[in-house]
Amino acid sequence: MNSKLKVSKLNNLKKPLSHKSQEWVRRHLNDPFVKQARKDGYISRAAYKLVEVQSKYRIIQSNHNVVELGSAPGGWTQVITNFLNEGQVFAIDLQEMEFAHNKLNFIHGDFIEEENQIIELINEKITKIEGDRKIHGVLSDMAPSACGDKQINHWRIMNLCHASFEFAKKVLIKNGYFVTKIFMGGEEKDFLNELKKYFRSVNFFKPESSRKDSTEIYIIAKNSL
Ligand SMILES: C[S@@+](CC[C@H](N)C(=O)[O-])C[C@H]1O[C@@H](n2cnc3c(N)ncnc32)[C@H](O)[C@@H]1O
Repeated sequence: MNSKLKVSKLNNLKKPLSHKSQEWVRRHLNDPFVKQARKDGYISRAAYKLVEVQSKYRIIQSNHNVVELGSAPGGWTQVITNFLNEGQVFAIDLQEMEFAHNKLNFIHGDFIEEENQIIELINEKITKIEGDRKIHGVLSDMAPSACGDKQINHWRIMNLCHASFEFAKKVLIKNGYFVTKIFMGGEEKDFLNELKKYFRSVNFFKPESSRKDSTEIYIIAKNSL
């Protein structure tokens, strides 16, 4: 029985990678941000995107309560918790986290379905602030499961962006901030204009650590009404 197991594992190892997978492995191994993440102890290279957002826009402060949408495996959460002292982070993802922290409240689930549960958790944990709006920042690095079609990926992520903006409007205190990932594909300018009705400062931002050949870009919206 044991020997069968060994053989099947060996077969798995020998299974040739597709051309696309080989390219991904090569690019991943040569990526300076992957190497840097290993050195700095970050779970994912994605952490540097938030490091860059924070270094340019100075959004997160030590007393902030932050909601993070699409948090797994936890690179952004590591960055957020580095800045927090009295504040807390409420994170949600379809996947499990690889990072734990005493300031992290994690919900394992689908943001679209669990929105009410997040709001309940916020109300249960933040008792010092009265009312429904207790959150200083909503950050979304959510990405839908990608298919080969860029336009479909764009529409899928736009659904997530609209849902997170609606959520942000419910929970953000005055002068709060909202950061979201977008894959460009046509609707991003209209979305930016929607955000301008609710935030005094709204900008596109492409971090250095975001791959040049990706349509990924971030929107940084500050000073909510
Ligand atoms: C690019 S990854 C996030 C990486 C993370 N910021 C980090 O630094 O480790 C995108 C995440 O969005 C999550 N996601 C996509 N749709 C979601 C949804 N509807 N609800 C919750 N999480 C979602 C995925 O499961 C995935 O883990």
